[in-house]
Amino acid sequence: KCSSQIISILEKPNINDVTEVKGWVKNLRIQKELIFADVSDGSCNKKLQVVIPKNLSTDTLSYGSSIYVTGQLSKSPRGQLELVADTLKVIGRCVVAEGYPFNPRTTHTSDYIRQYLHLRSRTNYMSAILRIRNAVTMLIYDFFHSRNFINIHTPILTSNDCEGAGEVFKVQPDCETTVKAMMKEGRDNDAVYFGSKTFLTVSGQLHLEAICRGMGNVYTLGPTFRAENSRSRLHLSEFYMLEAELAFCDKLEQLQIVVEKLLKHIFTKIRDTNEADLYLIDKENNKLPSWIDKSFIIITYEEAKNLLNKKDLTVTKEGINKEQELALIEYCGGVPVFVVEWPKEMKSFYMRECQDDNTKVDAFDLLTPITGEVVGGSLREDNYNKLKAKLPSEQLNWYVELRKFGNIPTGGFGLGLERLLQVLCKISNIKDTIPFPRWPHNCNM
Ligand code: 4AD
Ligand code: MG
Repeated sequence: KCSSQIISILEKPNINDVTEVKGWVKNLRIQKELIFADVSDGSCNKKLQVVIPKNLSTDTLSYGSSIYVTGQLSKSPRGQLELVADTLKVIGRCVVAEGYPFNPRTTHTSDYIRQYLHLRSRTNYMSAILRIRNAVTMLIYDFFHSRNFINIHTPILTSNDCEGAGEVFKVQPDCETTVKAMMKEGRDNDAVYFGSKTFLTVSGQLHLEAICRGMGNVYTLGPTFRAENSRSRLHLSEFYMLEAELAFCDKLEQLQIVVEKLLKHIFTKIRDTNEADLYLIDKENNKLPSWIDKSFIIITYEEAKNLLNKKDLTVTKEGINKEQELALIEYCGGVPVFVVEWPKEMKSFYMRECQDDNTKVDAFDLLTPITGEVVGGSLREDNYNKLKAKLPSEQLNWYVELRKFGNIPTGGFGLGLERLLQVLCKISNIKDTIPFPRWPHNCNM
């Protein structure tokens, strides 16, 4: 007996092979003597038709139940591949009347499916997204590995607030005996465990910079946390960020080239492996985006502002907002746009001043349709004294010290994985791109 996943059976069917399949029933058609079950095992979005003689069936065989079936692979009279069952076992029953929220006759909306985070991987919609998320992760690793970047695991627990926005989750021990013992030692209540205030990381950048200054090009893909009070369709409290740091990098274009190539790599290659998943999520998504063979557009912040002002979308001191980002993209015909040369006061302390204008920093935001900003990057201030003067806290003295010994110019960027998936799959709500989304008031499982 060959035990195969449905993806391999469909890719390379060996007719007449005796095969076993384990999966979930996605649809049942009951006829006089035969039952036709469409079975999925999560390996792809296609279903394998299983033909079950009625005498093998039991009461517990229903939509949603999990089954183990053995039989012979055959071609139906209409030429369709099917498994003709000779044994069938229902592993786990599934009864709609007991509260199973999905049924095969309704097209459930994504808002409806999102109410059942623990069960939603059973839907075609969510399982397609999770397979794409897996494939994109692999493509990111491929891309950097083939360019000899070293993958680094940066810490989750940290004493720095990299972005300086104060949107950090503080970490405190909840173990009373540990806390009491530490208090006895006369430690400050706030900083009792590590001896300094500790947060969940908002970005691995500063740690990546440390390694980059010893080993060259590096990257990381891991969870990051932001205590933003935002319930928008674009923000999560916990999201995955790809961050890369390039050694000996003193031109913003060096970063932009990598970002543009990375996006084009992902958008092209994903179609080799997950075309059907993309199509299932969005029927219009069967072709490459129109920008795939165009160069991304580059405009300065000043130019973007003037352009928007002219269109009566007046940019305030707060900066370009989401509506304006999307208007800019539309104006550029949907081609991704790098907005460069940002006013210094709008960006983080670590960014390098532009050489010919010290009111600006050498940073970019990459804007795309659907999300607006999807990547943020910059050259890093590599002058010891300038950086020291801008340092937000003494906690970061180690970060300035990196500039003291064998320093090099570096630059890097961060790409939000969930936002990228929104753009790739044309999904308007970011909560549908991550298995278990966290947002304010929502972390119940
Ligand atoms: O622009 P950000 O804040 O940049 C950084 O954190 C830099 N330290 C990265 C670096 O240079 N190494 O975040 C980068 C990207 C954003 O462009 C966005 O795509 C995503 O992370 N992002 C979020 N995604 C989901 N929910 C949130 N709350 C996000 N905040 C940022
Ligand atoms: Mg940003």
